[in-house]
Amino acid sequence: MTYLRNCWYVACMADELSDGPLARTILDEKLVMFRGEDGTAGVLADMCPHRFVRLSGGKVVGNAIECPYHGLRFDGSGTCVYQPFESGEPAPHNRARSWPVVERGGYVWIWAGDAELADPDLIPSSLDVLDDPEQKTVYGYLRVEGNYQLVTDNLLDLSHVDFLHPDARLPEGYASYENKVEQKGNRVFNWLWKPNSTPNYIQAALRDSTEEKADVFSHMEWNAPALMMLRTGLQDVGEPEGSDLNLPSAHLMTPETETSTHYFWTVSRDRKKDDTALDDLYQTALTHIFSTQDGPMIEQAQQAMGDETDLFAMHPVILSTDSAAIRARRILQKLIRDEARGSAPASPAIAAA
Ligand code: FES
Ligand SMILES: [Fe+2]
Repeated sequence: MTYLRNCWYVACMADELSDGPLARTILDEKLVMFRGEDGTAGVLADMCPHRFVRLSGGKVVGNAIECPYHGLRFDGSGTCVYQPFESGEPAPHNRARSWPVVERGGYVWIWAGDAELADPDLIPSSLDVLDDPEQKTVYGYLRVEGNYQLVTDNLLDLSHVDFLHPDARLPEGYASYENKVEQKGNRVFNWLWKPNSTPNYIQAALRDSTEEKADVFSHMEWNAPALMMLRTGLQDVGEPEGSDLNLPSAHLMTPETETSTHYFWTVSRDRKKDDTALDDLYQTALTHIFSTQDGPMIEQAQQAMGDETDLFAMHPVILSTDSAAIRARRILQKLIRDEARGSAPASPAIAAA
């Protein structure tokens, strides 16, 4: 399987670069990420063009990364800006391979395709909430030994909650939700509503109202290749949706290899922003749930599939609850196919049509 290239992938959380260079494999390529003194992030191939050693073993000097072997320095564009034994002169012809970078929403993003086409506006606008100063956001990261689309499947089909996360199960079960799956352009939405339900304890603690019951909602938006925004919340029974609690939660998958995934997640809130115990609760609970429940199940699925990453090649049983995930897989397949034929990246305008 090939990857979608002309799109943005999350490379790292912005604060992962505060302690020097970071080595990370993305789309099967070894990369080094660093932040220069001027605050600008750079992403290069983690291989010095002189003797091919890892640049990530070096250090940041000024706005460049210094190779640990003979001290060549490369800036974020990959240009050699300093050669210690050639009178320190820049040598723009000695280049390290670089990736277009943009910072948005507390993340460093890289463009994996044609640099001429790198347009930050192709990052889904639903993620703008991560830059909203009215929101407090908790960030998390997990690595999964499975293809990134298996993680997408997991998030677009929450019927697994009844079995895999029994503590989070509604008393009436998943089947009691009203559900609608919708495709708008190249986006997929999985809408879930549960009128007149009982909020869970975090929702109950965060809501404005003291009513016992609430209309609860949980809506997932998928954007290619695997950028997802979940909005969960509630309001008093019969009130307009989102009029009380509305919690945005991003789920952003970046392939490490074909069979392993960097999974970046967030939870934002517009209330109790100084409550650090709540930050810790989100961090601990979500890390626990994913690392001990979803993650191992996804890894087990990948192990059973071996090196195969095309789910359809395995002729899986298809259930009605697979509807959103299957649509997402079909759209991604088509985008990858179109890209191979030379199509431009899908613009948000087309995606929103
Ligand atoms: S290997 Fe990097 S400067 Fe020689
Ligand atoms: Fe789950």
